[in-house]
Amino acid sequence: MTATGDMKKIALSSSVAALEPSVTLAITAKAKELKAQGIEVVSLGAGEPDFDTPEPIKAAARAALDKGDTKYTPAVGTIELRQAISAKFKRDQGLSIPAEQIIVSSGAKHSIFNALFALLNPGDDVLIPAPYWLSYPEMVTLLRANSVVIPTDESTQFKLTADLLRKSITPKSKVLLLNSPSNPTGAVYTREELEALVAVLKENPQIAIISDEIYEKLIFDGRKHYSIASLDPEIASRTVVVNGHSKAYAMTGWRLGYAGYPNKEWAKAVSSLQSHSTSNPTSFAQAGGVVAIEQGDEEAHRMCQIFQKRRDLFVERILAIPKLTPFIPQGAFYCFVNISQTGLRSVALAKALLEEVHVAVVPGQPFGSDHHVRMSFATSEKDLEEAARRISDWLKKR
Ligand SMILES: Cc1ncc(COP(=O)(O)O)c(C=O)c1O
Repeated sequence: MTATGDMKKIALSSSVAALEPSVTLAITAKAKELKAQGIEVVSLGAGEPDFDTPEPIKAAARAALDKGDTKYTPAVGTIELRQAISAKFKRDQGLSIPAEQIIVSSGAKHSIFNALFALLNPGDDVLIPAPYWLSYPEMVTLLRANSVVIPTDESTQFKLTADLLRKSITPKSKVLLLNSPSNPTGAVYTREELEALVAVLKENPQIAIISDEIYEKLIFDGRKHYSIASLDPEIASRTVVVNGHSKAYAMTGWRLGYAGYPNKEWAKAVSSLQSHSTSNPTSFAQAGGVVAIEQGDEEAHRMCQIFQKRRDLFVERILAIPKLTPFIPQGAFYCFVNISQTGLRSVALAKALLEEVHVAVVPGQPFGSDHHVRMSFATSEKDLEEAARRISDWLKKR
């Protein structure tokens, strides 16, 4: 009997079977195929900084390898890194999260999955403001819980309001997932906007909050990042603050993320979970991670300024294209562009742009809006100019 023959009899788990096939992967695969044919594809698909990791961070990882840091570390991360993160939480957000309540994982994605895993029972509801980062609902599906999507649009700058939140809460609501600065919209909550959410959450003490702050360092026009956990001690007592190295320090491939838990019991449960699943994040990556947290902010700021300059350029170009309406991003490195006036839905538009003018963009549909596409400006000014020119010419001919 063939291996394929055997496989046919094996049913995969219903959680995995329920996952959505990745539209983004399909677009990326098509872009690769075109490139392999020698076609010059301009990609606005990147979900990562196009910069290299700053040298002192790499040097620290190399030194760790050279001195034999090649063994298991504590499952929750080294004490050096957790202490550095604890100090960072204090310095940047005024949060007091002791090192014992910090769990370092293999990327913020992993941290979020752990946090959800530790909180959710099958059938629980997770409140997810849309547009959302596409992995949130899929993680919820894997855990056999329900995503309660709360749609937002340009009228509230893609932000959840107190009113929308209040209307969406039911006795089954267990977790609220917040993400500021946001992927895919680039929206950044102000302190006042978060305070309005705090007021509603205080009326609903059964809700835990997972605050995904991975784009914290990429914030424009002198805005300030606030963690919802910093605004009220009672809210802090039920908030998991997630952050990571990927976006701030151009370290996506290192797989380092972390979560600060509000109490020891909660952290201990997640520590057990991680110790029985993935165990520690890579030992020498963690050594680089300490240097990033302790010395990386100057470089992070420099990269942020470059992203802001690109944002200005790109938004100007997109604004000049009839039928496209960009939301002006306040942080991160994505421009979420409203395509309603083109008469096309997001997957069709992304497919057509790639096939006809070889520009790769990411459809909004898996992010919770089929009327938008996400265009990343984590690429050169030359590519941004070229992409905008091709898109503009293509739309003129339609
Ligand atoms: C909103 C958001 N959260 C979390 C992550 C996970 O980042 P990582 O797992 O690389 O730390 C990403 C990555 O794209 C993201 O956009």
